Amino acid sequence: MDYELAENKIKEIISNNQNPQVLQYVVDFLYKNFSSYNWIGIYIVEDSYLVLGPWQGQQSTQHIKIPIGQGVCGSAAHSGKTEVVSDVSEDQRYLACFASTRSEIVVPIKKDGVVIGEIDIDSDVPDAFDNSDALFLEKVADMLSWHI
Ligand code: SME
Repeated sequence: MDYELAENKIKEIISNNQNPQVLQYVVDFLYKNFSSYNWIGIYIVEDSYLVLGPWQGQQSTQHIKIPIGQGVCGSAAHSGKTEVVSDVSEDQRYLACFASTRSEIVVPIKKDGVVIGEIDIDSDVPDAFDNSDALFLEKVADMLSWHI
């Protein structure tokens, strides 16, 4: 799906639904409309951990509580910067969840400059995420920051 159209659809989902379902609906929408997004989860910051919230994908993950600073997720939460991993087998920080995953993007969700959560997406496609995905998902993260 076109990123601009997706952004508008997500705005609609957010304005037509109540918390906390909004997060699940947005995750479901991304999963359904972006074929290379094979697993999508929202982690919420609680103390010094990332705790898994709504997710969508074929399998559940064992990583439901990740210390900030660990893994690709924990790095993004620590730095506040989007992480794009084009080949997970080459990244020492990577915490494996699914044998099929080849690439990953993690986008922090910030409120007043503070990381309060993040969007984590795994793909079975190598190098699935580019700058357009990062820019799009950063906009989605901004929209979601009001619903965490
Ligand atoms: N791969 C992540 C862990 C979360 S799973 O992908 C769902 C990481 O390295 O932090």
